[in-house]
Amino acid sequence: MSLLHVINHPMVQHKLTIMRDKNTGSKDFRELLNEISLLMGYEVTRDIPLEDVEIETPICKMTAKEVSGRKLAIVPILRAGLGMVEGLHTLVPVARVGHIGLYRNEETHEPVEYYCKLPEDIHDRLVIVTDPMLATGGSACDAITMLKRKGCRNIRLMCLVSVPEGIRKVQSEHPDVDIYTAAVDDHLNENAYIVPGLGDAGDRIFGTK
Ligand code: PRP
Ligand code: URA
Repeated sequence: MSLLHVINHPMVQHKLTIMRDKNTGSKDFRELLNEISLLMGYEVTRDIPLEDVEIETPICKMTAKEVSGRKLAIVPILRAGLGMVEGLHTLVPVARVGHIGLYRNEETHEPVEYYCKLPEDIHDRLVIVTDPMLATGGSACDAITMLKRKGCRNIRLMCLVSVPEGIRKVQSEHPDVDIYTAAVDDHLNENAYIVPGLGDAGDRIFGTK
């Protein structure tokens, strides 16, 4: 069974509260998502491997540690997942970025694939899939399945707000994929929106409604 990591750091919770507020505009929403992504990134990357590197300080030579950042890929689920890339990239600037385009059919709520462009060596990398909303879990599960078909074996899912339904679906279809979330909300409404949630993440990031 995959692990569920709830990032309840006070700064993450504080920023999330502002994002949830319907009076928060796109500019602030984007900036806060960026900041939270960086903060969550600390936890998502907490156990990534370090390598020895020989360096020279002004005093002497030493064997120091460096992150094998070349082994990481960030894969946002378009559109809303894009809002979490910059924060992670600030943390790991050499990470490669792939893109998976999925949107939910408004009636069936099933994800529809429209784009996929991934680094050639994605199968050799730790992949962090980003999407602010884990609702029914359909989009996350499909994106993870697409990555597994490309040979990825080391995948983590980073979202902002989730619900038990979506968590259960990911854990049952992809028990090897750990989930990182800042909040587990109550339930989905009749339109498969998270309650209380924060509304439509893509629209709030890009100002499309
Ligand atoms: C939203 C969100 C997730 C998906 C979550 O995307 O960003 O990708 O819904 O729902 P699910 O867990 O039920 O699949 P949306 O389809 O609205 O597309 P957008 O990001 O382009 O706005
Ligand atoms: N997608 C969103 O953007 N918000 C939700 O609450 C559910 C799916």
